[in-house]
Amino acid sequence: MHTEWFNNARYGLFIHWGAYSVAGRCEWLMNRELIPRNEYQAKYVDHFHAEHYNPADWAAKAKRWGMGYAVLTTRHHDGFALWNSKVNQWNAVNFGPKRDLVAEYVKAFRDAGLKVGLYYSSANWTHPDYPGPFSRNYNDNTWKDETSRKHFIEYNRAEIKELLSNYGKIDYLWFDGNFPGNLDGPETAAMIRKIQPEIIFNDRVGNVKYDWNVKECEQEIKPAAETDIDWEACMTLNRSWTYNPCDHRWKQPTDVIELLLQCARDGGNLLLNNGPMPDGTFSEESVKILDTVGIWLKHNREAIENSERHLFQWCNGDCCITCRNNKIYLNFLSDCHGGFCWGDLKNEILRAYFLDNGEDVEIHREGPRLFLPDLKFVPPARTVVLEVNGKPENNFSEATRWIPE
Ligand code: GLC
Repeated sequence: MHTEWFNNARYGLFIHWGAYSVAGRCEWLMNRELIPRNEYQAKYVDHFHAEHYNPADWAAKAKRWGMGYAVLTTRHHDGFALWNSKVNQWNAVNFGPKRDLVAEYVKAFRDAGLKVGLYYSSANWTHPDYPGPFSRNYNDNTWKDETSRKHFIEYNRAEIKELLSNYGKIDYLWFDGNFPGNLDGPETAAMIRKIQPEIIFNDRVGNVKYDWNVKECEQEIKPAAETDIDWEACMTLNRSWTYNPCDHRWKQPTDVIELLLQCARDGGNLLLNNGPMPDGTFSEESVKILDTVGIWLKHNREAIENSERHLFQWCNGDCCITCRNNKIYLNFLSDCHGGFCWGDLKNEILRAYFLDNGEDVEIHREGPRLFLPDLKFVPPARTVVLEVNGKPENNFSEATRWIPE
């Protein structure tokens, strides 16, 4: 089953933000540095003010960046909730920012016409029933006892119920931290669908197989084996999920476009993370990179929207191919100085043109071989559209048996 808006969007903004952003290191610091809750409160929660938080600006940026949806970490593994929770008093209304950050986010993104996603971690290191705050073994399914496992699941569901009942329509529930296992996922899934029948969620709700909507891969591109399943790759823009002022290992605009195209090529999405600073603004460096990608997408978004899986995985030169209906998008990530030749296409080409300005491209064909002229390449990428006769077909069977004369 495919979700229309999800396939149309192809590109989303992942927002890791919370008290941990104050540390500017890693969202796992409580666990990895063995920080007790009172120390975490004094050092991070009490310094998390969100003083420049303006989700309308986030939404405007996400649109400018060419994204169709966003996912905000409403509660990470530390247990600090960003919404006005009645079942978790350790939240952003009672402490730190003293506002319901989730309510404001949902409204702003919905008003901007973007699909709204909420990240929710099942794990909570500071909950009394959680089996091991500093447990590092994801596969350890041991609970203190059955009563605490049941209590914990009850608490999880109560939080999820708040998120899905108090903020109107939520398009995407993004689960994480499904450890220890045995979280009785099927019952949780049924509850979710009952509250929000149109919602989609990913495959991280407990360790049980059931009807989730999105297959997730993390920091890698691993398309779902099944073609009728939606999938998504979540990735960081530098090396960190949380805002980290010391991490300068940014992906460059062309790297981001390449990842996005590699997902689109196999009919999947890229959920790209940008962790805001504790004050609620994005770092200048990240904005610059995403703006450059956004400018390319402004003229070339058609190359990814509703893209269909296809067989043209390999192409001469620095070119990543995407397809939809009878259109083939040759997305060039670097210049090929007029030397581009491709021999895999069987169809007749009806028209070739640049996606950014609609100008015709003078192609030349010798049998299946397609030659393109100098593309007047402009970084970060340039796309040529081939309109072909019917559904694109490859001539691999002939090509693999081809012997030069
Ligand atoms: C990793 C991180 C986690 C983060 C998640 C996003 O699993 O450990 O903190 O939220 O990636 O997928």
